Amino acid sequence: MTRSRLAALAAVLASLASPGHAQEAQPESTTALAERASVTAEDFMVATAHPLATKAGYDVLAAGGSAADAAVAVQMMLGLVEPQSSGLGGGTFLLYWNAALGELTSFDGRETAPAIADPGYWLGPDGAAVEFWDAVVGGRSVGVPGTPKLMEEIHARYGRLPWADLLAPAIDTAEAGFEISQRMADAIVEGQEQRLDAFPAAKAYFFDDGGSPKAEGSPLRNPDYARTLRLLAAQGTAPFYTGSIARDIVAAVRTETNPGELTLADFADYKVKERAPVCLDYRTYEVCGMGPPSSGALTVGQILGILSHWDLGRPGANTDIDHLFIEASKLAFADRGLYMADSDFVKMPAGLLDPAYLESRAALIDPGAAMGSAAPGEPPWDETRLYAPSADQPEFGTSHFVIVDRYGDMVSATTTIETGFGSRVMVDGFLLNNELTDFSFEPEADGKPIANRVEAGKRPRSSMAPTIVLEHGEPRLLIGSPGGSRIIEYVAEALIGILDLGLDPQEAIDRPHVVNRNSDTTEVEEGPGAEATIARLAAVGQTAKAANLNSGLHAILIGDGTLTGGADKRREGLAMGD
Ligand code: GLY
Repeated sequence: MTRSRLAALAAVLASLASPGHAQEAQPESTTALAERASVTAEDFMVATAHPLATKAGYDVLAAGGSAADAAVAVQMMLGLVEPQSSGLGGGTFLLYWNAALGELTSFDGRETAPAIADPGYWLGPDGAAVEFWDAVVGGRSVGVPGTPKLMEEIHARYGRLPWADLLAPAIDTAEAGFEISQRMADAIVEGQEQRLDAFPAAKAYFFDDGGSPKAEGSPLRNPDYARTLRLLAAQGTAPFYTGSIARDIVAAVRTETNPGELTLADFADYKVKERAPVCLDYRTYEVCGMGPPSSGALTVGQILGILSHWDLGRPGANTDIDHLFIEASKLAFADRGLYMADSDFVKMPAGLLDPAYLESRAALIDPGAAMGSAAPGEPPWDETRLYAPSADQPEFGTSHFVIVDRYGDMVSATTTIETGFGSRVMVDGFLLNNELTDFSFEPEADGKPIANRVEAGKRPRSSMAPTIVLEHGEPRLLIGSPGGSRIIEYVAEALIGILDLGLDPQEAIDRPHVVNRNSDTTEVEEGPGAEATIARLAAVGQTAKAANLNSGLHAILIGDGTLTGGADKRREGLAMGD
């Protein structure tokens, strides 16, 4: 890092860590960060959604910690300074590159439905699906969190520094206090619109004595979170899954409105699952990500596999890359809606990334005309259609971080409590997820079950797409994003930017988004070029409108002896390395 950049970072970090300091250095309100450039380093790097989380990871890496160690420190800090997006009360998918073994693996710390759940879980007394926000708010939307156990397991497997040391920075910051960032302050205001202040613990923490949302720059301390982390530091995650924290959560979800029915047995039964990553050969690369219960890698993979039939770096005079991307995305989302869910519970076609199948899907694209919406295809499978297509579920929240350590180990992790502030139920200093609303509310359609219906112990389908790209068996790129089901397109677009268009991570992240999840109307990121893009797309029959598309992409590109990181200008994150 250059001296000037270090000095700028020091100013940002100092302002965030000291309550009472003036508000001038909030990342989202400065033009300098809107014009940010990629950050380079040689030995290690971390990029997260908040400067204090990046700093926590950086310090661990600088002290000789592994990528797993840094991931623990980052996650514990994110749960404090970006509590609306992820934390102990949520779930995480994490890809790990083990340099010593030359091996890529993935960990599924997704939330699970309680044993009491059945396919009618989201149907009201009249048999109709409940309204989305009525389902979100309260204890019924809470699944058993997986993030604490995932963190403990990757530390046990790959850690180099003591577990307790990794929790210390978040404990110290929770006790000393930090300043509410612009993004968190905005989120509290939005959260109030959906009853954040109807829940006593959340109200006491996020609102002032007069009931107003705490403002940007307000000091915030979280002694309950510090106490929870001290317990975990001393005893590991046992208190969370079989002890006092489990008991507190089980009691807390029995809210007045929308009570949940999680039990201590649900917590005791929770398991992190190690899974083989899902990989697609793309150009000279292998693009690897999280398989089911996430739809992330399969849907990103389908988009890229379909687009591999065009040379996106040299598309030709009459070929519009945005149009091709929209059409590929519609086709991939059509398959996602029909086939993808927790494959431990439902049968899924093995051929969703089959090259011949994706070639047949690419053949449906007319480079000169939009197709309207797409129908699901028939990937190679020895079953006839078992399921009915599901409507797209609203999905929100979430955070992504990427880490490379000095030993060559790497982490790409997406972590969530679902909507901003999750279920709104706050216990022991952290918020509980509303991940069970990622299931289909309707259990069946046209006399067939929906693959992503609720079932006991099942994990809701996700869109999270933590990604590691390999070239000749070695890691080249780590990337991922929050953004609900738009995650898939944010990640696919950035991959195309880096792998096809030769952009550096920051340039690829900064490219305006174009999103279509198989609907009649494409979303074009609002901003200076939006109207021109909408007009250009209209020429090939695409209906498009401008929209606020708030990704949170974080990426590290691994070159020969150089790490190049980028952090999304749309949020307040930071890449930092040495
Ligand atoms: N709840 C966001 C996701 O899992 O994709």
